[in-house]
Amino acid sequence: MKNASVRTTYLKEYRPPPFTIETTNLHFDLYEDHASVVSKLLFKCSGDSDVTSLQLHGQLLKLEKVLINGQLLNPDQYSRDDENLTIPALDGLLGASFKEFLFECHTRIEPQNNTALEGLYKSKKMFCTQCEAEGFRRITYYLDRPDVMSVFTTTVAAEKAKYPVLLSNGNNIASGDVDGAPGRHWVTWEDPFKKPSYLFALVAGDLLSLDDTFVTCSDREIELRIFVEEKDIDKCNHAMLSLKNSMRWDEEVYGREYDLDIFMIVAVDDFNMGAMENKGLNVFNTSCVLASPQTTTDFSFQRVEAVVAHEYFHNWSGNRVTCRDWFQLSLKEGFTVYRDSEFSADMGSRTVKRVEDVSFLQTVQFAEDGGPMAHSVRPDSYMEISNFYTVTIYEKGAEVVRMIALLLGPEKFRAGSDLYFERHDGQAVTTEDFVKAMEDASGIDLGQFRNWYYQAGTPVVSIQSEFDADTKRYTLHVSQSCPDTPGQSNKKPLTVPLRLGLLGSDGKDLPLRLLADDASTSKTDRVLSVTQEEQQFVFEGLESEPIPSLLRGFSAPVRLKYDYSRAELLFLMVNDSDGFNRWNASQLLTIGLIDELQSDLAAGRDLALPQSLVDAYAGVLDSTLSDPSVDKAMIAQLLSLPTIGFLIERSEVADVDSIHLVREFLLNGLAAKFYSLFLDVYTNNTSDAEYAADAVSIARRSLKNLALSYLMRSDEDEAVTLAQQQFVLASNMTDQLSGLRCLVNSGAATAVDLKRDALASFYKQWSHEPLVVDQWFVVQAVCQLPGSLAQVKQLLEHTDFDIRNPNKVRSLIGAFCGQNHIGFHDASGEGYEFLADQVLVLDTLNPQIASRLLTPLTRWRKFSAKRQGLMQSQLRRIKAQEELSKDLFEIVEKSTI
Ligand code: BES
Ligand code: ZN
Repeated sequence: MKNASVRTTYLKEYRPPPFTIETTNLHFDLYEDHASVVSKLLFKCSGDSDVTSLQLHGQLLKLEKVLINGQLLNPDQYSRDDENLTIPALDGLLGASFKEFLFECHTRIEPQNNTALEGLYKSKKMFCTQCEAEGFRRITYYLDRPDVMSVFTTTVAAEKAKYPVLLSNGNNIASGDVDGAPGRHWVTWEDPFKKPSYLFALVAGDLLSLDDTFVTCSDREIELRIFVEEKDIDKCNHAMLSLKNSMRWDEEVYGREYDLDIFMIVAVDDFNMGAMENKGLNVFNTSCVLASPQTTTDFSFQRVEAVVAHEYFHNWSGNRVTCRDWFQLSLKEGFTVYRDSEFSADMGSRTVKRVEDVSFLQTVQFAEDGGPMAHSVRPDSYMEISNFYTVTIYEKGAEVVRMIALLLGPEKFRAGSDLYFERHDGQAVTTEDFVKAMEDASGIDLGQFRNWYYQAGTPVVSIQSEFDADTKRYTLHVSQSCPDTPGQSNKKPLTVPLRLGLLGSDGKDLPLRLLADDASTSKTDRVLSVTQEEQQFVFEGLESEPIPSLLRGFSAPVRLKYDYSRAELLFLMVNDSDGFNRWNASQLLTIGLIDELQSDLAAGRDLALPQSLVDAYAGVLDSTLSDPSVDKAMIAQLLSLPTIGFLIERSEVADVDSIHLVREFLLNGLAAKFYSLFLDVYTNNTSDAEYAADAVSIARRSLKNLALSYLMRSDEDEAVTLAQQQFVLASNMTDQLSGLRCLVNSGAATAVDLKRDALASFYKQWSHEPLVVDQWFVVQAVCQLPGSLAQVKQLLEHTDFDIRNPNKVRSLIGAFCGQNHIGFHDASGEGYEFLADQVLVLDTLNPQIASRLLTPLTRWRKFSAKRQGLMQSQLRRIKAQEELSKDLFEIVEKSTI
C-alpha cells in the first residue's frame, strides 16, 4: 500500500448497514494451486433505507463471475478496486422497489501463497482460516463487518487422501464423494446461529481427534473434539480437561450453557495469535493447545488452560452477543479476559493470579498508555484494526469490567450479566449497551464511571494521611489526575473504586467507620468511591494512628502515590490481611531500595546490600522452611525482584545499564547471603512424584527453580553441578528447561563447556518437537550475558528458524527485542537496527507480525536522549520506505517525531 493512501476510520462515521444478509451459502473447492469459492448471499434491505448501490468488501480476490437473481452481470455493471466490489445501479437490475435479492459470486484465491495468515491459508499441509478482524474479505466478497449477522451453510470439497477431515462451523449435515472427480469428497456444515463473518472457519487436513463428551446443566450431551496431527494426539488431554472445566464453570458462575451439539478445537502450527473463537470450531495455535509433561512447561500448561477457557467463554461474550463495530472490541475481549482470569483464579491460587496479572498490566499496559499508541478502552479512530488488539483493549478492558464487578458486588454483577446476555442475545452491540445493562440490573449509576471507556492514560491517585489524636479522627486526602495522551488533554475525573483497610499496631484490621456512617458499622475492608479531583475521607474512633492498606487487590488500574516509610512497608508485608497488598508492600520496599542504589551508583558511592531487604528475605525464607503449608507460588513471588521491564516502565528516564547493574548486585548479594537457605529450599522442594500440572505442584517447582537460579549466582561448583544434574535427570520440561536456563546464564568458568553441550544435547533431543525448539530459541535470545545479539543473528540461519512461522519469529526476534532489555538496548544501537531490519523483511510477508514486533522501538520516550535518537532514526528509516503495510505504517507514523 502506498503510504499516503492509508485512511483513518472514525467511530463517528459509523452507519448501520444498508442491507442484511439473511443466509450465506458457501462452496469451497480446495486444490494445491488454488481454491475456488462460490458464495450465494440472500440480501435484504434494512429498514427504510433506499440505497440502490451495493458495495462489498474484498481483497486479493480473482473474480470469475457475479450474478444477481441468477442473471449474469457484464463487467460494465460493476466496478472493482483494491478493497471493494461495487454494483452502482441495483434498481436498474431489480426494479425500483426491490426488498431482497440473491447475490452470487465465483472467486479464486491462492491459500498456498498466503503468508499473511489472514483469510484462507495453508499451515504446513493443512488448510485453515483466520477471519477476525477483516480476513473474510480475503476469501470472498462480503459485507465483512460484525454488525452483519447471517446463517452460514458451508460445503468443503477436497482430495480425500490428503484431506480426510473437512470442517466448518456448526453441524455436519451431509457428505459424500464428488461426482465425476475421483478421489475427491465433500462435507456440508450448517451453523444455525446467526454470526458475523469474522467467526467463520474452515479446516481441511489429515488430522486425528481426541473425543469426549460433556453433559450440560440441562442434560444435553455435547460432543467435544480436539483435532491435531497424528504425532500430537497424546498431547491433548490437558486441553480437553480445561475445556470441560471451562464449560462447567461458565454454567455455575455465569449461568451460560453451550448451545450447539458439538464443540471442536483444531491445532495449527502457523497462527498469528494464540487462538480464535470461531463458532463451534475454535482454531488454536499449537502452542496454546498441546501439552505433555515431557515437552511443556508449567507456564504453558497454565496458558493452555487459560486460552481454552477464554475462547470457550467467547461463545457467549463475543459470539451470541457480538460487537457492533471494531471500536467495541473490548466489549468482547475485555469482558472475556476478565472472565478467564476469574476462572484461572478459581482453578489455582487467586492471589498469585492477581499478582501475575497486575505485574503484567503495570509493565506492559502502563507502558502502552505512556507511549505514542496510547488509546482508550473504546477508541475513536484507527488506521488498521489489527493494531488495536492491544493490552489496553484486553487487560485494561478487563480491569474496567473488574471495577464494575467490585462496585456492584457479586449478586448485582451477576444480575447485570444475565440481563446483558438476555437483552442482547443475537445482537451486535456496544460497550455502552454493556454498561447500561449493568446499571439497569443493579440500580447503580455508572454515569461518571463511563469515562474509563473513553479516556486514555493511566490515572494517578495521590493520597496523604493525617491523624488527630484528640478527635481520634484519621483523614485521607485523595486527589486524582490523568496525564495527557496523544489527541486527549484536560481529562475528567473518574470513579475510582478504592478498596482499603486500616491496620492497628497489633497488625489487625480496624473497623472502618466513616464520619457519615451509622455507628453500628464494623466492616474492616471496604470500597470507597473516589469521584472528585480532590476528596477527603474521615474515619472516626481510632485510638492511635493506623497504617493504611490502600488499593487492596489493585482495585483500580491506577498509579497510587502514598509515602510509606520503610518500616510501614515491612509491617504491611507481614501483617496485611490482603495477600495482594502483602506482595505489593514487598515490591514497594524493593523499588525504593533500587532507586537509592541507583543514586549511589550515579554518585560513585559503593553499593551495599540493604539490611531491610535482607530482613525481608530472611522472614520469607523462614516462613517457607518452617511452615510447608504456605503458598509456595506466593513465596516465589515474594522472593523475586521486580523485572527490568517493570523497572524501566516506572522510571522517568530509564537507565537500563544502571537498572541491570543494581538488580544484579542485589540478586548476587542475596544469593551469597542466603546460599544455605536456598539450598534447603531447593532440596525440600525436589520431588520424585510423577509430574502433575496442579497448582500445588506447579508452585513447588516454581519455588525450587527460583532457588536454583539464586544458587547459580554463587561461585560454588556445587550449584553448577545441581543445575547440570537437574538438566540431565529432569522428567519434565519445566525442570529440564530451568536447568538449561541456569547453565546458559551462568558466568562461571566451569559452565562454559557444560552450557555448549547442554544446548546441543537439548536440541538433539527435541529437534522433532517444534514447540520445544521454540523454547530453545527463547532461552538463547533472552540470555543476559554479553554477545546475545550475535547469537540471535546466528540462530536466524538455523535450519529450524522459519521467518514465515510466527511462533519462531516471536521466540527468537520477539523474545530478544521484547524481553532481553540489556541486549536490545545495547548502547551501540545495534539491537534497534537489527529489529528494524527484521521488521522490514517481515512486512512483506506478514504485516500483523511485523507491526507487533516493532512495539519495543515505539517505547523510545522512556530512554536517554542518546538512545531516543538511535531508536527514532530506525523508526524513520522504516517510515522512509516507499510501500509499507497499513499495519506497519500506522505504528511508524504515530511513533516518529
Ligand atoms: N479473538 C481473539 C483472537 C484474535 C485476535 C484474532 C486478533 C484475530 C485478531 C481471541 O479471542 C484472543 O483474544 N486470543 C488471545 C488469547 C487470550 C487468552 C487473551 C490471543 O490470541 O493471544
Ligand atoms: Zn478473545
